[in-house]
Amino acid sequence: MKKLIIGNFKMNTTPSEFKSYAMTLATKVKGAKNTVVVCPPFTHLSVAREILGGSKVFYGAQNISAEENGAFTGEISAKMIKDLGATYVILGHSERRGQFKENDKLVNKKIKTALANGLKVILCVGESLQTRESKQAQNFVRKQLDDDLKGIYENELESVVIAYEPIWAIGTGKTATNSDITKMAEIIRKEIELQFSPKAAQNITIVYGGSIGLKNYKKILSNAAINGALIGGTSLDVDAFTLIARENY
Ligand code: 13P
Repeated sequence: MKKLIIGNFKMNTTPSEFKSYAMTLATKVKGAKNTVVVCPPFTHLSVAREILGGSKVFYGAQNISAEENGAFTGEISAKMIKDLGATYVILGHSERRGQFKENDKLVNKKIKTALANGLKVILCVGESLQTRESKQAQNFVRKQLDDDLKGIYENELESVVIAYEPIWAIGTGKTATNSDITKMAEIIRKEIELQFSPKAAQNITIVYGGSIGLKNYKKILSNAAINGALIGGTSLDVDAFTLIARENY
């Protein structure tokens, strides 16, 4: 099964370091069946265009402003990343929700801005440990989906990937089990069915993220309930990331 393999660099590497990474990645994934995406920091996107433009590797950003342009010092717009050839943007990552206080209303606005500018959105959802322990994970994720996708048209869902990233599994080495992942993927599809249609639920792309590494990627990516993976730490190692990207699942 063809999978979507996404690397999220977070705030790691320099543009120069990324140049050699991208050269290796483009060469090594040439024959891969999977769709491969890297999301480095904004400052690396012109390098991505130079090295990955014309290759089979897609690239994207880790955030954008909800605004189109104007007096927003320090912000980066959808148009700017699109102009550099970005295909994707990660929105609603738990690190942005937690550390930068991005709420669902803002995430919803950012999604609309991204879609209006022809970008594909990787929308991150997922519960904290406390929410999980109080058995509220499913309700929490459902509400995130409701709020974040409010006002989005069904045909726009073709450009939306849902990334289930339980916060307790991010960077902790504690990955969700396949049974956890399958259950939540089913909840996500059910919610998409309720909000949109059975067809939309069937077609929506769902990926899992949280402590995916060389020891567990095969097991996780072989899970037919999900369409791919969002990989943080491990994506920084080009050999590990290409190994995961080249595998047949
Ligand atoms: P790790 O793979 O480092 O746990 O990070 C997951 C993540 O947050 C990707 O967006």
